Amino acid sequence: MDMTASDWRTSRDPAVLTREQETTLQTPRRRYGFLARGLFLTMDLFYGRGRGLSKFKVLEVVARVPYQAWEHVAYIAMTHTYGRPHFARRIFEFVREARHQQDNEQWHLLILEEMVQNRKIRENFFRHRIIPQILAFAYYHISWLLYVIRPALSYGLNADFEDHAEHEYMAFVSEDPALEAEPFVSDFEQEYGSYRSLGDLFRRIALDERLHKEQSLNRIAQARFA
Ligand SMILES: [Fe+2]
Ligand SMILES: [Fe+2]
Repeated sequence: MDMTASDWRTSRDPAVLTREQETTLQTPRRRYGFLARGLFLTMDLFYGRGRGLSKFKVLEVVARVPYQAWEHVAYIAMTHTYGRPHFARRIFEFVREARHQQDNEQWHLLILEEMVQNRKIRENFFRHRIIPQILAFAYYHISWLLYVIRPALSYGLNADFEDHAEHEYMAFVSEDPALEAEPFVSDFEQEYGSYRSLGDLFRRIALDERLHKEQSLNRIAQARFA
């Protein structure tokens, strides 16, 4: 993997982030499958069609669970295959990738939560705590079941989800120019990095989602655990 400063996968350079925002906005969305469309529709029903911090938080609560489901399946697979340690090690590499993505989504969620609290945005316990957990619970089992049936189905659903998240974050930045002037001050800068503005922060989050999408698409191209 190319890891130069201009590589969008890791870059925090404002010029790169801004360039990649254009790339996202000019790239058509994936043709979302039936399950992904159902999920986005459900979210619109509960949280409205507009974009906002509280709705993104729901997205991030749900975003983590496919990685948890895959990790779970992989651990079971390792239990069955550790008699072939080289094969089990390949599964473990897969677990590492899933864990890394899951951690990444966790930082997104904590940063958003911090922002919601700092801005004193009012949230409703049922709509903003209970419903997201129900959605995540259902989504976990769908991801798990699809994975057991055929991994490519689960990756395809996740690629749709991540593509949607990438486009939503980039569109959110485009429609709110005030984000460019607002500094990013956070207790999570140690873990997630420092950015000159919320605009740059959200562009970086969007690019994480693009990376997650690409990793799922790469997995589709490969055989299970290969
Ligand atoms: Fe995320
Ligand atoms: Fe993601």
